[in-house]
Amino acid sequence: MPVVVDHDHRTFTLHTACTTYQMQVDRYGYVLHLYYGPRTAGTMDYLPTFWDRGQAAQPEHVGDRAYSLDVLPQEFPFQGMGDLRNPLFSVRRVGGGAFGCDLRYAGFELRDGKYGLPGLPAVYDEGADGAQTLVITLRDAQLRLDVELLYGVMPAYDVVTRAVRVVNRGTETVEVKRLQSACLDFTHGDFDVLSFFGRHGMERMPARAALGHGSFSVGSRRGESSHQYNPFLIVCDRTATEEAGQAWSMSFVYSGGFCAAVERDQFDQVRMQMGLSDEQFSFPLAPGEELVGPEVVMTYSAHGLGLLSQNLHRLIRQRVCRGYWRDRVRPVLLNSWEAAYFDFTGDSLVDLARKAKECGVELLVMDDGWFGRRESDTSSLGDWRPNTAKLGGTVAELARRVNEAGLDFGIWYEPEMVSEDSDLYRAHPDWALAVPGKPKVRGRDQLVLDLSRPEVRDAVFEQMCAVLDDANVAYLKWDCNRSLVDVYSSAARDQGTVLYNYVLGLYDLLERLSQRYPRMLVEGCASGGGRFDAGMLYYTPQIWTSDCTDAVNRLTIQVGTSYGYPCAAMGAHVSASPNEMTRRPAPLSTRAAVAMMGGGFGYELDVRELPDAGVEAVKRQVAYFHAHAELIMNGRYYRLVPPETNRLCAWEFAAEDGSEALVAAVVLDVHGYGVPSYLVPRGLTPGAVYRCSETGGDYPSDALMSAGFPLPLSLAPYESCAFHFSRVGA
Ligand code: DGJ
Repeated sequence: MPVVVDHDHRTFTLHTACTTYQMQVDRYGYVLHLYYGPRTAGTMDYLPTFWDRGQAAQPEHVGDRAYSLDVLPQEFPFQGMGDLRNPLFSVRRVGGGAFGCDLRYAGFELRDGKYGLPGLPAVYDEGADGAQTLVITLRDAQLRLDVELLYGVMPAYDVVTRAVRVVNRGTETVEVKRLQSACLDFTHGDFDVLSFFGRHGMERMPARAALGHGSFSVGSRRGESSHQYNPFLIVCDRTATEEAGQAWSMSFVYSGGFCAAVERDQFDQVRMQMGLSDEQFSFPLAPGEELVGPEVVMTYSAHGLGLLSQNLHRLIRQRVCRGYWRDRVRPVLLNSWEAAYFDFTGDSLVDLARKAKECGVELLVMDDGWFGRRESDTSSLGDWRPNTAKLGGTVAELARRVNEAGLDFGIWYEPEMVSEDSDLYRAHPDWALAVPGKPKVRGRDQLVLDLSRPEVRDAVFEQMCAVLDDANVAYLKWDCNRSLVDVYSSAARDQGTVLYNYVLGLYDLLERLSQRYPRMLVEGCASGGGRFDAGMLYYTPQIWTSDCTDAVNRLTIQVGTSYGYPCAAMGAHVSASPNEMTRRPAPLSTRAAVAMMGGGFGYELDVRELPDAGVEAVKRQVAYFHAHAELIMNGRYYRLVPPETNRLCAWEFAAEDGSEALVAAVVLDVHGYGVPSYLVPRGLTPGAVYRCSETGGDYPSDALMSAGFPLPLSLAPYESCAFHFSRVGA
């Protein structure tokens, strides 16, 4: 069984195929963290050390100066009993009362299957997964406050998840000031921290640095998980590489504000933690009320960062993403945004669809500009009625014309937003988030709807259904183009709850959409990759990775994204050259090679302007994508050469069973009469022979995986190449 309860040692041990996680209830009732590492048997309660460290506090019932929560590794560090490192939990009595609580072990429950979280996304299990849930209850006896620590064990995925439920069983209201979901305390170790920073158009750049004393933290106070820092963090050995060394990660299954921190304390111990941001957060819990801290996914790799990523890829693809499109190859699409921006009509879209059909494209997406009086980004958000004059009819009629041209039809929405210049805003100005008496803060000239209010969600949903019920819509792009600044809801009983309830409202809308249109493919987007997180992937199996479509920039963005997220989830398009954002030219073949790193492959340019040779090239690209789409969706992804080398970027998809592999590379720089680059594929079957479709040669797999093979020296900067290997006799 994945969860083992040892009553003698008072330990709980969580086993996955290759990992073990262990904790213990100590003699004073506190739950200590013991171990998270390679799978092992035994009790690791020899790891924490007890010693009088001078100035370290003790709870009064302990009476032993060698025992201090300020030193010991814990499962759920809370503020109030002497641990003065970063807490996960802090609570205050109402009416300006005291801070602090005393949470001690009160019992456990073990059940088969993986827990779910009401109204929140979470990893789910399927029958044969053998998943288990362990719930450990901590209790503050005086406040009668229960904190349930939820552990989900996914043995075949090498994943342990954590979430937390706080229940007020007392008679007084308490205020939760801070609630984070997961903590990993290391008693020793010299680590690097790998975080992912960015901005609009440059998301998820890996940043690796040695962990010094103090607290390193990233987070978002933007109401969305954000372009600036991703809710995903890795702690690894200082020497860890793609292939070797230990690495631990946390991914937040949540799309709003977060905080992720790693602290090195006075005794060189390390605490890694993740959960809700406590900025503008203050959650009153009346008697009987509860609050759930969203889920954190943890994984451990003893074999470097590559395996860590692959664990997450498989889990997110198979047990976070859901629905009809989870395992299906996605249609190759053409998006109208960089092809036409706001400047289109129904006729021009049908024209585009006809040309796209010639190119082999399967779906046309009508992006922003189809509704209200939207001819620029200054108006009409909230008025989700088609501009029939512009479209030449209703959305249903246009969808029919696009279908007649041989393509499926897709549409763009930005349901969370409202323009002041809109009928919706004129009718319901109080539906927008705004702080009374304070000047409003606009972003892209728009305001944010108060999704914490059910009537606001209902109104948006009804408008969406009025279009989607009638029209044959195969795809929907869910955009969100600003952060939340004015956090005030006229319906909230405490403004400290608004950011959290907004995200729950967002999830409610997304859930309703997926229930009503189960076969519609929904792609997430937030000015590109401003909300690329595991929470959104529960509702939208792919996300537009970035508004930057420059192929060379996309290498760093997509490879950075791959540390925590599967390629199958990345929306990636071929756009015009020179790129409209960066002015950098790149060959069509390279733009396609880079976009084919994503399972959400498509085009975003005016295909009518392609010369005949370009149309033929696109046809070949679409056929190539189809030939390899299963491998791109489900293969093991390897970062062979990261773009940071500035010389080359190379990656590989290898079939789980070793039957085939696709290796691709883009040259970034060359030197005259230069040194050849060799690529060393991974994940092939040892002792086998592979045939390469491009060279026609046969290669022994062990030699390939050790000496590699040379790339053509003729490749110029920004040119690309791809090699498909199939196991001979497979
Ligand atoms: C931002 C998105 O990321 C773009 O792809 C496009 O949909 C625009 N919004 C439309 O306003």
